[in-house]
This record gives sequence, structure tokens and C-alpha cells, in this order.
Amino acid sequence: MKFQFKSDLIKKIQADIIILAVSDKNQILNSSDLDKPLVSKLKYIIKIGDLSSKVGDILITHSVEQYSRVILLRVGDQKKLTSKSFFNSLEKIARNLKSKNFGKLLIPLNQFINKDISMYSASSFLVRAIVNNNYCINSQKTVAKAKVNSYDIFLHGDKKNISDIKLGIRHGEAISNGANLTKDLGNLPPNICTPTYLANQAKKLAKEFNMQVKILDKKQIEKLKMGSFLSVSQGSREAPKFIILEHKKGPKNKKPIVLVGKGITFDAGGISLKPGTAMDEMKYDMCGAATALGVMKMAGLLKLPLNLVCVIPACENLPDGAALKPGDIVKSMSGQTIEILNTDAEGRLVLCDALTYSERYNPDTVIDIATLTGACVIALGHHASAVFSNDEPLAKELLDAGDEALDLAWQMPLWDEYQPLLNSNFADMANIGGRAAGSITAACFLSRYAKKYNWAHLDIAGTAWISGAQKSATGRPVNLLSQFLIKRATK
Ligand code: BES
Ligand code: MN
Ligand code: ZN
Repeated sequence: MKFQFKSDLIKKIQADIIILAVSDKNQILNSSDLDKPLVSKLKYIIKIGDLSSKVGDILITHSVEQYSRVILLRVGDQKKLTSKSFFNSLEKIARNLKSKNFGKLLIPLNQFINKDISMYSASSFLVRAIVNNNYCINSQKTVAKAKVNSYDIFLHGDKKNISDIKLGIRHGEAISNGANLTKDLGNLPPNICTPTYLANQAKKLAKEFNMQVKILDKKQIEKLKMGSFLSVSQGSREAPKFIILEHKKGPKNKKPIVLVGKGITFDAGGISLKPGTAMDEMKYDMCGAATALGVMKMAGLLKLPLNLVCVIPACENLPDGAALKPGDIVKSMSGQTIEILNTDAEGRLVLCDALTYSERYNPDTVIDIATLTGACVIALGHHASAVFSNDEPLAKELLDAGDEALDLAWQMPLWDEYQPLLNSNFADMANIGGRAAGSITAACFLSRYAKKYNWAHLDIAGTAWISGAQKSATGRPVNLLSQFLIKRATK
């Protein structure tokens, strides 16, 4: 895919496909820039009613004048078109074109611009929609894979729009490339994507983007007294890795933003074994880590002037004779003791030590990203990631970033009233809080390790992957976090 800015006369640009907006009054918005015979043919097509009146709907017509296809997009009242509706239509178009064979797609952007949709956002949405929908799982099928058509995309605007459109393309490409890494890592089988594999990915990013990387092995993790993290890995034969990747491109004395990603490369539940149905999907339990790495890649591609640290506790959660048991008590790096009541609540056990470790950076902000609780899927379904935070402005910043990037998030409470659900007779806390408010008590657990800095927790159990026939990682919430960081970088 190649994205290019164009400002020549629309009718002078040679393209196979053009996307044109149609108003609620059946007007083609760009008609004065188009050849008359083309407009009259399209008007006829619209008149006979083939394009539905529903805003966002598209119609693909074939061989109209010089174009092999014209895509009509119903925008209704241009002033009222929302970025969400525009983005959904772009995704629909990109999905449709994935299986088609052609060379050049032209989209005049000024037909879509209004208060909600800028040249910059229209450009980055377009790039994101196309790259996202042309993603192919790097599968191990032995039969020949269908090739995806790679085409040129011309984003048309006035000369004065050049910097906005080019920036939109640049950001859109970096964000999508980051999200593709996240998807690739998530989709890999767990016998390949092990803690060691994740560590090697971090090394690769470090090399490519001039970042600093440190991989701590079991001995070094023991030395740090991360008893909680290690207790999860003790039932597995895969070596645990504690991964640290640093992107230091901000002012020298500026406190860093730390991203902590849950890196359970397979979660069988441990001795509190999960039921067998769909257990394969627990290969996605490292999507928090994959998101953190995807965001680091985005930051590397854009050379974001920020100080960023990515911290990943990576291991498997499996049952064997050495595995952690319900009733065991472990000691976290913070010194706090934890009574294990369910070994399947392992995410918080690896994250708490990573949160304590993050203190050494004297961070401005720490954000952890985790496929933490099934309860989060019950609460929010697959549309929104959950946001918990000990700092209201930070929560708001993340929610706004999600709205702007169309990678939605919703805030959940972190009230003290929930904390006693974690009480234990035998240790400082239990690792579960019972059936009620499962995502909240998980966040409450983490909050006990994040008292020294502004912290947010993103529970992405419902958003990181799709189940069923289309099973795949989504690359979320790389878009949200990228938006958040890009904004921080320009502040
Ligand atoms: N990785 C799971 C959470 C999960 C489950 C995410 C299903 C997406 C889909 C996590 O480690 C887990 O097992 N959580 C338990 C916690 C419970 C034992 C308190 C859960 O949600 O059932
Ligand atoms: Mn689990
Ligand atoms: Zn898990």
C-alpha cells in the first residue's frame, strides 16, 4: 500500500477507482471537479435508487466513464457527518476492495471535511482503515495463500492541505504498523510466541529504533524478589523473562511514561484449571504485552520526542507438580504478602511486581495494559476497553484519546469501598475478591502496588481479539495509546 498526497485537478488524475460522497439531496459533492458525462451517469445511478439513503452506506458501480469502479458513499448532510460514521464507511470500503484487483484508488478528501473531521484525521483514518483491513494472518497453512492486492492510494486535497494530509498519512502508517505487530504477536501460536520470543521481539525493536533493552532471566528476577511474578511461572517449563525496553527521545530530565504489558503467553489457569472450551484463545493473554510493543514500534517509527519505558513480565500459567496452589502465600517485590485463592487470577500476580519495579523510573505516568478479567467482557462486551485510574485527569485523557482515535474506552470505578473484598485472614491480601465486581477488584488489587505515581489500568479482555470464524487479534488499544502519546508529545 502506498499513500500519496495529490493536489492536481481531480479529473486529471489517472485512477481505477474514485470515492465520491453523495448528500441527502442526492447531490454528488465534488461534481464541479468531475467530467460532465461521468456526473450525469452517476446521477442516473443514484436516481434509480441503488444507493440507499442511510448515511454511511456505500455503492460500488462498475465501469463508469474512465473509472473501472466508482464508490458512492452516502454522507447525508456533510456538516453533520461524524468521524465514527466516516471511519466505519472507510472500513467497509477497504474490506470490499481487499479481494479486488486494481492499481489506483483516488479519494478527494474535501467532501468529508467538517467540524468533526479535519484533513489530518480524515487522512489518518483512511490509512488506518485500509491497512487494518488488509491485514493477513501470517498462518502456517501449507496450501498457497491468497495474495492481497497492494494498491496506490491518492489522498486529494488543496495545496494548502499538504502538511495536514502528509502528517495524517505518516501518523496513520506508524499507528497501523504498530498495531500490525501487536496482531502478529497475538495471533502466533503459544508454542512459538513464548516469553523468550517476546524478549527477542523487544531486542529486535531496540536494534531497529535505537532503543535500550534489558532482558532479565529467572536468576535476576529472583534477585529483585519478584516472588509474586515467579510464583506464576513455577508450573511451566518455559523460562520467565522480565523485559524492559526504553525509548529515550524526550528532554533529558523529563520523567518517563511507563507502559506495563501483561505477557502471559498461555493461560491454562494453573492448578485452578480453566474449562477446555476455547482454551486456545488464552494464547491471547499476552496481548497487553503485544500492545505495549506495538506502541513502542509506533513511537520508534515517529521518533516521538518522549521518554517511554515498556515493562513486560512474561511467563506461562500452567499446572504441573511444581505449580502454585490455592492456599499458597507468596511475597511480592513490594513486600506485601498475597494469599492465592485462585491460580487463574495470575495476571495481577505478574503485574504487581512490574508495577513495583516501575517505581525506579520515578515515572510521570504508568499505564498497564492487560487481558485481565473475564468479568470485563461481561461488563463492557467487545466494544470498549475498561479504564481504571487513581488520577482523574489521566483517566479523562485516555478516554478522550479513545474517542478521538475511535478506539473506545469506558471508565470503571476504583472506589475504596471495594477494597475489603480482597481481605485475607492469612496474608496482606487475597488474589481474588469473589464473583461480584470481578474487574474492579482486580483493579483494586493492582492499585495497592501503584500508590507512588499517577497510574491507569486498561482491561482489554474484551477488545484485544475477536473469537469465532474471524478469530484474530484486533491490535487494540494501540490506536488509543498512540493518540494519547502523540498528544503528549506535542504538549
Ligand atoms: N486471562 C484471564 C482473563 C480472561 C478470560 C480474558 C477470558 C479474556 C477472556 C485471567 O487470567 C483470568 O483467568 N481471570 C479470571 C479471574 C478470576 C479467577 C477471579 C477470570 O476472569 O475468570
Ligand atoms: Mn487466568
Ligand atoms: Zn490470564
